[in-house]
Amino acid sequence: MSTKTATSVACANIAFIKYWGNRDNALRLPSNGSISMNLDGLFTHTTVSFQPSLPFDELIINGHEVAGKGLTRISHILDLAREMAGIKMNAEVMSENNFPSGAGIASSASAFAALALASSKAAGLDLNEAELSRLARRGSGSASRSIPSGFVEWQMGTGDNDCVAVSIAPPEHWALVDCVAIVSAQHKKTGSTEGHALAWTSPLQAARVADATRRLDICRNAILQKDFEVFANIIEHDSDMMHSVMMTSTPPLMYWQSATIEVFHQVREWRAGGLPAAYTVDAGANVHVITLKEYAGEVEKRLRELPGVSNVLVAGAGGGAKLV
Ligand code: DP6
Repeated sequence: MSTKTATSVACANIAFIKYWGNRDNALRLPSNGSISMNLDGLFTHTTVSFQPSLPFDELIINGHEVAGKGLTRISHILDLAREMAGIKMNAEVMSENNFPSGAGIASSASAFAALALASSKAAGLDLNEAELSRLARRGSGSASRSIPSGFVEWQMGTGDNDCVAVSIAPPEHWALVDCVAIVSAQHKKTGSTEGHALAWTSPLQAARVADATRRLDICRNAILQKDFEVFANIIEHDSDMMHSVMMTSTPPLMYWQSATIEVFHQVREWRAGGLPAAYTVDAGANVHVITLKEYAGEVEKRLRELPGVSNVLVAGAGGGAKLV
């Protein structure tokens, strides 16, 4: 047996219609479908090498060895790849993010998408896009959406087999830009995985889930028709609904800081004044302000002038996960 190696890259993504809560936590089958855009230039680069001499799996992130829970989560995906390929070797996983951690950009999406591709390839498998999306999903739900290119919809499906993400439009379809206003570089206290498990303790989650098809239809159509006004209203509404569930779960999750809310007010004023901009927030305090490419410079400049904003990252629509 000889060493088997593969390297991949995958982009982070920002959800426009959010995934929050699972109907099956172990398989990461979400309570509702979601829609996102891959973020060009914000990626994880991962090399997986299965080596006959390794006594256990090893994980190195940004040059530092990681053990404990982080390693267990990676080994779970390696186990699935090993099982499919019928191999038993342990692996060394070397992963690097080119964006700062705690910057309001989930690294789990790009990380598990890159891991699904590199580990399956290194194991000798040749998985298609749907199979890769399923495998990535088992590591982190949002990672299923970082496999296909551009604008992506993660379908709920009926079970493990058809719960996959598909591209609804390529990156060049619509020149949207995400200006991420960093208001807090602090590491969040409650991660997404623990958060999903609390979703159904909120009495608002049932209403949020029951209404998801409507929001998905509006958002998908707004993207396909490039209707910014409709798009802006639905993504803000969806983000506010998810945070309402978070705030009313037991125990309650409050991710916003005062600067987060200040950005909301500013963005709505800018839009009323004719500048196309809309906000959305994941499980953290930083605000993703979505705009059109021609206005990105202006949005970035205005965000930087706000007192609570310490930095702004800018990314357009990105492609799918790739081998390198
Ligand atoms: C708020 O995919 O990070 O960003 O499956 O437990 O890894 P795990 O959760 P994760 O959840 C993402 C939650 C979100 C919304 C979204 O990206 O859809």
